[in-house]
Amino acid sequence: MPRVVLTASLPGDVAGILAGHELRGPAEGAWPRARWLAELATADALICLLSDRIDAEVFERGPHLRVVANYAVGHDNVDHAAAAARGVLIANTPDVLTEATADLAFALILAAARRIGEGERLIRGGGWRGWSPGLLHGVELTGQTLGIVGVGRVGRAVARRAQGFGLHVIGAGHGRAVDAPGVTPVALDELLATADVVSLHCPLTPATRGLIDAAALARMKPTAILVNTARGECVDDDALADALERGHLAGAALDVFAHEPAVAPRLLTAPRLVLTPHLGSATAGARARMGELCARAVAAVLAGQRPPNLVAPREVTA
Ligand code: DGY
Repeated sequence: MPRVVLTASLPGDVAGILAGHELRGPAEGAWPRARWLAELATADALICLLSDRIDAEVFERGPHLRVVANYAVGHDNVDHAAAAARGVLIANTPDVLTEATADLAFALILAAARRIGEGERLIRGGGWRGWSPGLLHGVELTGQTLGIVGVGRVGRAVARRAQGFGLHVIGAGHGRAVDAPGVTPVALDELLATADVVSLHCPLTPATRGLIDAAALARMKPTAILVNTARGECVDDDALADALERGHLAGAALDVFAHEPAVAPRLLTAPRLVLTPHLGSATAGARARMGELCARAVAAVLAGQRPPNLVAPREVTA
């Protein structure tokens, strides 16, 4: 019976889809790395989280692995060269989390624009003295320009929401041409200089690591808002904290961090910054669909078929 290792217990009908396979994984929560690595010696497939580092050691410990299904659309946690060297296929979870992630990105745009985090802290801290004409002025979105960096599935879904809010939408690719309805393509420098809200939806690659550094922030309008639901490493934390502390940027919101679950201490104290714990795809529906998509990819590869969600498509042999 084919053997599938799961590094974490996942929502969705994973067991049903993988009936006829031997499943090895925790009954709840996640296994530590050493525990799941120890299960790999006879495994045919691995289903892992974005927080699991899938490196050469994984393929050494799992010499029979044929596929790794990453429970995320982003797959920067995978050493693709090491996987290719061993002929291991990599699958991810596109599409099923697009709307959930776009919802969260838009929620953060609104939260930063309307200072929702500060308002909540004011009430909970007992500091609210009542309605006042000058309290926590925010920014109206209508008529403003949203700059989307990375106009893929999620970026397009954010653009659709933005059009409903009366935002003008511009977009910059990350090596790919921007071709999305209602999104005006611009170069990244122009986007940074003209957008009132900059929202990141690019994958983490060598080109996007540190993309929003001190120079990029300096290019942004002092009244602009930065939102990151992509990957923490796309933003230089210190440069962002500096900008917020200097009053350059009206606000920012981060759902992702370079060393999750650690958050750079300066981000915890920086003003006008909304923080959420990597919730982009965190709806019951999206998380169940992600589990099921991983399970279907594994079942397909182990049956010698080619699933549609291969990141690094190669020949599949039975
Ligand atoms: C992904 O799928 O890459 C997201 O970051 C998970 O929410």
